[in-house]
Amino acid sequence: IPVDTFDLVIFGGTGDLARRKILPGLFRRFRSGQMPAEARIIGAARSEMDDAGYRQMIREAIAEFGSEEKEDAGGIDAFLERLHYVAIDAMGEGGWKQLRDLMRDGVVRAFYFSVAPSLFGALAERLHEHRIADGESRIVVEKPFGRDLASAKALNATLAEHFDESQIYRIDHYLGKETVQNLMATRFGNVLFEPLWNSHYIDHIQITVAETVGVAGRGSYYDKSGAMRDMVQNHLMQLLCLIAMEPPSTYDADTVRDEKLKVIRALQPVEPHQVVRGQYDASQDGPSYREDAENPRSFTESFLALKCHIANWRWAKVPFYIRTGKRMKARSSEIAVVFKDLGHSIFEGDTARHRNILSIQLQPNEGMDLQVTIKEPGPGGMRLVDVPLDMTFADALGPDQEAPDAYERLIMDVIRGDQTLFMRGDEVEAAWAWTDPIIEGWEARNDVPKLYEAGTAGPEDAMMLMHRDGRRWREIKG
Ligand code: BG6
Repeated sequence: IPVDTFDLVIFGGTGDLARRKILPGLFRRFRSGQMPAEARIIGAARSEMDDAGYRQMIREAIAEFGSEEKEDAGGIDAFLERLHYVAIDAMGEGGWKQLRDLMRDGVVRAFYFSVAPSLFGALAERLHEHRIADGESRIVVEKPFGRDLASAKALNATLAEHFDESQIYRIDHYLGKETVQNLMATRFGNVLFEPLWNSHYIDHIQITVAETVGVAGRGSYYDKSGAMRDMVQNHLMQLLCLIAMEPPSTYDADTVRDEKLKVIRALQPVEPHQVVRGQYDASQDGPSYREDAENPRSFTESFLALKCHIANWRWAKVPFYIRTGKRMKARSSEIAVVFKDLGHSIFEGDTARHRNILSIQLQPNEGMDLQVTIKEPGPGGMRLVDVPLDMTFADALGPDQEAPDAYERLIMDVIRGDQTLFMRGDEVEAAWAWTDPIIEGWEARNDVPKLYEAGTAGPEDAMMLMHRDGRRWREIKG
């Protein structure tokens, strides 16, 4: 179903994100027929360039970063026709009049701030000063949304001077991933799971987001962030919210976000011994974190594992273990809901521990798998064995099922005016309010991250975090 016609201005239109994700994603939406023929995309950045130059740049970007669309030259020409470019000076006057003249009335106006957060205020101000944005316009902002509670509050306040909360779309691209949305479908679209989704039946929950990439090329950003600010405060906490929240009464933006906010606010403070920070060491396959970050004295973590609790009735005493890291064994993101052991076994001689585990695989192979216990086939009596009830979505739904990439889905939601999969200002602030003391804690202790070998599951201490509780991490499989 096509969305309404729009004028989408991308500030930072020549930048990395625009070339890698935003434009190739929009092209896919164009090809699928979701982007209306009259819609326009206006790149805006500092460099002097004309429309033809910008179209050429994006043609090359799509050839490099797009996937199967490379061959579709016909489609790409029609798409590139929809592109325009304005050289703009965020802090000065250059280009703003030209941009205003380009914008059409009667179509959705959206502004993507794919620039450093320090420019958000200036852009918002200029858009109003030059009457380019009005009460109906939407703005899209990227992470990092601040680096602590104070800076996030300041950013929210700056945006609020010019835009109402209903116009602000804070992107967390994890919320645009197919399987992440499937978490809600699984929980709230089935009768099977929800009755068991609590401390009576669940032993613990594990969330793993493991990456194989390092930080080479973006070390100067990453070294000031680390895994906590780069991944945990946003992506992992969003996953935690979707797993732990109460059922919203309807699937609408504020109802869903109210429930997520309650989870974040119920998170208990984390004790120092419940946090493990790691940093990857050099290996034969690649340099160390410090070399990649070009900071020989860096104490930034490229890996983080922690244990936390949600203080409410549903989750009383159920630990949530979360971990994320760079240069790990495989690229694999998984949420595992580990149910409690059977209270009593009627099968004599069966001393093994059988437990149901629902594992939700976010990437690379999206799917779900439920570990169940059955009788081992054959004449050997009642011997039990644990097997997976496996469902890879591509198998179940067909390989042709085209799942849009997170970015393209989210941009279409902006045009549709649907904020459900975007973070509200209070959510972002609550998340920082929880992570700030953890970060301050390790800074005050001068904590030194534990080195781990690249290509592994992280430092030994992360294993201990679970072993101490008589539990173990799931294996990281690509
Ligand atoms: C980004 C982080 O938000 O997410 C990166 O800044 C990280 O450090 C990336 O690599 C992971 O995204 P994905 O979609 O590849 O899991």
